[in-house]
Order: sequence, then structure tokens, then C-alpha cells
Amino acid sequence: MAESGLSLKKLDGKVAIVTGGASGIGKATARLFANNGARMVVIADIQDELGQRVAESIGLEHASYIHCDVSDEEQVKSLVESTVQNHGQLDIMVSNAGIGSRSDQTILDLDFLELDRLFAINIRGMAACVKHAARAMVDGHVRGSIVCTAGVASCTGFDKFIDYFMSKHAVLGLVRSASNQLGGHGIRVNCVSPFVITTPLTCGVHGVDAEQAEEVEKIFEPHLPLKGVVLKENHIADVLLFLASNDSACVSGHNLVVDRGFLAK
Ligand SMILES: NC(=O)c1ccc[n+]([C@@H]2O[C@H](COP(=O)([O-])OP(=O)(O)OC[C@H]3O[C@@H](n4cnc5c(N)ncnc54)[C@H](O)[C@@H]3O)[C@@H](O)[C@H]2O)c1
Repeated sequence: MAESGLSLKKLDGKVAIVTGGASGIGKATARLFANNGARMVVIADIQDELGQRVAESIGLEHASYIHCDVSDEEQVKSLVESTVQNHGQLDIMVSNAGIGSRSDQTILDLDFLELDRLFAINIRGMAACVKHAARAMVDGHVRGSIVCTAGVASCTGFDKFIDYFMSKHAVLGLVRSASNQLGGHGIRVNCVSPFVITTPLTCGVHGVDAEQAEEVEKIFEPHLPLKGVVLKENHIADVLLFLASNDSACVSGHNLVVDRGFLAK
């Protein structure tokens, strides 16, 4: 391809925002987007030092960091506005920032303060990112792609973490409805649903540190039909690249599950 001068980079010239881009899935995604030709990847997070370091490691000509607490709509609005102001338009929003739940969150013992705290980020935050990205795309006449990170928790229940599972079901409702409402503008809205990956979020809810991450993987291994591969952040980044790029030009309202066959059992 090099001889023909054609580029194989899937996001050539695109401007993307990745929320939760300082760590885990978002960090892997920001890097992959930049490697695939994105003109600018704006990393939005609340972990300022980490986020700045991720942007610098990608290269500040193609990545930048902005502090944005997604639970605050004004901060999301200004994240999107400053991206459009500085880079001309917004083509891709990866609404990925999220937090885990406490293991004792069951229906009999549900702590509503905790539920409210989690919903403010995992539901309100997701919705704010979709809303303001969509407004910028409509105003700019951009046939953009919006992708949310849901999780297998959007498709099933569990014996703990009930507020987290509720929040991920809500992401599915957001994506399906928004894809209907934005389709007329040529804007696609999808979500990706990973099975458990040992990011800081997962290690946190299981009370282990990064060195003990393999212990968590061992717990789930017997339940996963597809053997010989361990699900990592880069596998989700690959799927987010597909959903962000024109490779998925006719895919909207979809929940792409990445779970080594778990939900097919
Ligand atoms: N790791 C998994 O097993 C798994 C599985 C399914 C879905 N997910 C989802 O993937 C997404 C990313 O999680 P991860 O596993 O990479 O975790 P992570 O903890 O590595 O990354 C999440 C990032 O979101 C940021 N964040 C948290 N609250 C925020 C806020 N209010 N505003 C802005 N940023 C905020 C954190 O600072 C962090 O950098 C989450 O939505 C999570 O629910 C994760």
C-alpha cells in the first residue's frame, strides 16, 4: 500500500475524545486511536497526573489531556466545546469513564448513597457525554461515531454489585435510544461490553493489587468457553477502533460483547 500512497490508518484526520483515558481500557484506546492516524485524541479524566503522562507518552502533537469529571454536566459541555474550538470538530466520542461498585451492594442491603454516587458517573456521566458530543456533531454537520463502554453487566445479573449492573443496563437503554434519535443526522451510537479485565477498576472491587491480578483471572477462567487467550485492554481498544471507524459504517444501536463466549453459555 505504501507505493500507492494510500493510508491504512482507520482514523486519519479524526478528532476523538476518550473519557477515562488515564487508565485501563481508555488509555489503551487513546494510544490505538493515535496510532491509527487520529489528528487529535483528547483524554478526559480526573486523574490529572496519570492523564497528562498518557498524553505525553502518545505525543502532544496528537494527544492532549483535559481534567473533566463526567458527573458534572458543565465540565462535559466545556470539554466538548474546547475540543471543537481547538481542533475544529468532534468526530468520535468514546464515553468510557466509569467506576466499580462495592461487593456488599445487594438488593437486601442496598446503600442508596453509594448507588447515587455510582449512577452519577456511570449513567449521568455517560448520558452527558453522549448529549454534548451529539450536539457538537449535529451543529458541525459531522457524521460522527459515539461509543460507550457498557459491560457484560448490561446483559445479565449477578449475586453482588447490583448498582453497577443496573448502571450498565442503563447504558444499553441510552445507546439504543440515542441511536434512534441521532440516526437522522448520520450519527452512529454503539456500545462495547467487555467481560472482566484486570484493570485498576476490577482489582479495586476485588480488593487485590496489580500483582495479584492473575488471581482474579483464575476465578473466572473456568466460566469462559474460548480458551487460549486472556482478555486484555487492547482487545477492547481494537473493538472500539472498529466501532469508531468507517469499518462499522452501517452499525448503530449495537452492543458488541467481548467476553470469550461467556454470554453464549
Ligand atoms: N475492567 C473490566 O473488567 C470492565 C468490564 C466491563 C466494563 N468495564 C467498563 O470499562 C470502563 C473503563 O474501566 P476500566 O476497567 O478501564 O477501569 P479503570 O479504572 O482502569 O479506568 C477508568 C477511568 O475512569 C476514570 N474516571 C472515574 N470516574 C470519573 C469521572 N467522574 N470523570 C472522569 N473520569 C473518571 C478513572 O480515573 C479511570 O482513569 C468503565 O466504564 C467500566 O465500567 C470494565
